[in-house]
Amino acid sequence: MKTIFQILLTLFFSVLLFSCQDKRNVVDIGTHPAEWTDKNSDKFHGKAVIEGGTESCQSCHGEDNLGGISGVSCMGAGCHIHYPHPAGFTEVSSDNFHGQYIKNTLAWDMLTCQSCHGEDYSREVNGTSCKTCHNGPEGPEECNTCHGSPSNIAPPRDLGKNISHTALGVGAHQIHVAETEVTRVMDCNRCHPEVLSFDDPNHIDDGIAEVIFDTLGTDGGRLTPTWDRNTGSCSETYCHGSFRFGSSGQIRGNSDPVIWTERKPSDPNAQCKFCHGLPPTGHIGQGSFNDPQSCNQCHGSVVNSNGEIANPSLHINRKENFN
Ligand code: HEC
Ligand code: HEC
Ligand code: HEC
Ligand code: HEC
Ligand code: HEC
Ligand code: HEC
Ligand code: HEC
Repeated sequence: MKTIFQILLTLFFSVLLFSCQDKRNVVDIGTHPAEWTDKNSDKFHGKAVIEGGTESCQSCHGEDNLGGISGVSCMGAGCHIHYPHPAGFTEVSSDNFHGQYIKNTLAWDMLTCQSCHGEDYSREVNGTSCKTCHNGPEGPEECNTCHGSPSNIAPPRDLGKNISHTALGVGAHQIHVAETEVTRVMDCNRCHPEVLSFDDPNHIDDGIAEVIFDTLGTDGGRLTPTWDRNTGSCSETYCHGSFRFGSSGQIRGNSDPVIWTERKPSDPNAQCKFCHGLPPTGHIGQGSFNDPQSCNQCHGSVVNSNGEIANPSLHINRKENFN
């Protein structure tokens, strides 16, 4: 009886010892196949992670993926910088949200995400791809992912998620690109370098949009309008009244700087006078033609008898237009 017990006890301890040794061996000798770090191999560790996530790795590499009992961290020199993802990476309200990370840490550069999530962002990792959520054809590179809205790609929202016109990134975008009734709505490149695609060299650099004016704003190069970030204003734009007409250039509009974050006046007369007098300085009949309706007498192709701009494409087009 005693011997049987001794045998059983020895057996129990050797099993215990064996399993302990086994555990230590895993850590000491390693568990991974030789091609574990060979990108081109079927056994590449990245493939295992893309299929199953990192949960199965964490028992040895630590819950924070910083090494755990294996002592080998996933982060650091030669390894991953932007992966594994922190908790909250998919929660909009978290400081760790991936949108914040792309903006603040990566300065909007998503190339690094493509290495695992696919060049077109559609590779499924752990059952999800970027396009599961960013479901437009270009995925997260859709033009309104970072600025604009479903109706158009100009702010709001701006790059800081602001929606109020008082934010510099929002300002008077919508009246220019969508809402104006006094002229044709404007393309982005009236005020910005032309951006033809996400990767366009004119697009992202320092995170602050470039403002340069095209031939309309400069009146074909005659003017040098400027955007001043400190005062949030534009000066010397053709559109806001730096025009010159008449035989000696005597007919001119206002040349005061216009504040980007202010709303246009609500009174209809004041709305016209925002850019030029009724009639403009230097125009014939000062004191007689002093309401919007009167313009219709001679500039009937542009202004109707109610004093409204009847043909937006003829107003603010660098041309004189009469009846
Ligand atoms: C049972 C413990 C254990 C598990 C589970 C584990 N590892 Fe490891 N891993 C180790 C140990 C120990 C090392 C260091 C020794 C070695 O290179 O094998 C290591 C090393 C690595 C290395 C570095 C290899 C090298 O040659 O530099 C990578 C990459 C790695 N593991 C990725 C993973 C991934 C990804 C997972 C999950 C799919 C995972 N590991 C799961 C224990 C583990
Ligand atoms: C689980 C859903 C989900 C997945 C998967 C996802 N995103 Fe997002 N992403 C969001 C949400 C939600 C927002 C925030 C939208 C908002 O603020 O209105 C967002 C925002 C962004 C932004 C905008 C950042 C900003 O501050 O304007 C970028 C860029 C982005 N994601 C890139 C990616 C990339 C790249 C991938 C894949 C590697 C990805 N996302 C995967 C849900 C997701
Ligand atoms: C080294 C590979 C790798 C890189 C680089 C990488 N990811 Fe991931 N990502 C993964 C894996 C694998 C998953 C699956 C869940 C996990 O393991 O965390 C994932 C999951 C996600 C998810 C969550 C999807 C969900 O619903 O669970 C988002 C969002 C995401 N990644 C965004 C990004 C963004 C944005 C970048 C670039 C900053 C990026 N990833 C870079 C490998 C990577
Ligand atoms: C009337 C001139 C004008 C037009 C037209 C215009 N923008 Fe802008 N845009 C600006 C000004 C001014 C700023 C502020 C620049 C700064 O921050 O210094 C700006 C800033 C931006 C920003 C950066 C916002 C931020 O948060 O910093 C984006 C993005 C932008 N514009 C996109 C567009 C797009 C897209 C269009 C066309 C659909 C467009 N803009 C049309 C004048 C214009
Ligand atoms: C990942 C976020 C993101 C996406 C997606 C995005 N933009 Fe932008 N966009 C920016 C940032 C950041 C700026 C500020 C520009 C800078 O850094 O100079 C900007 C600025 C702009 C501007 C103002 C001019 C300039 O470059 O400064 C235009 C116009 C513009 N984007 C158009 C587009 C178009 C068109 C697309 C789709 C093809 C697009 N954006 C997609 C982030 C984005
Ligand atoms: C945003 C600035 C702006 C506003 C607001 C504005 N104008 Fe003008 N207007 C101009 C400019 C610039 C010209 C110079 C001619 C051109 O380019 O069409 C002009 C020219 C005119 C002309 C001469 C005909 C023509 O088009 O050449 C008439 C008439 C006129 N405006 C009437 C009005 C009336 C009426 C209102 C108010 C309903 C008004 N404008 C509001 C900028 C403005
Ligand atoms: C009695 C006719 C008459 C009326 C009424 C009149 N204009 Fe004119 N306008 C002219 C003539 C003629 C010229 C060209 C003068 C020249 O080239 O020296 C002119 C030129 C202009 C110009 C510069 C060139 C152009 O067409 O853009 C502006 C701006 C303008 N008018 C605005 C107005 C506005 C605003 C009103 C209404 C408040 C108005 N005018 C009412 C006859 C009129």
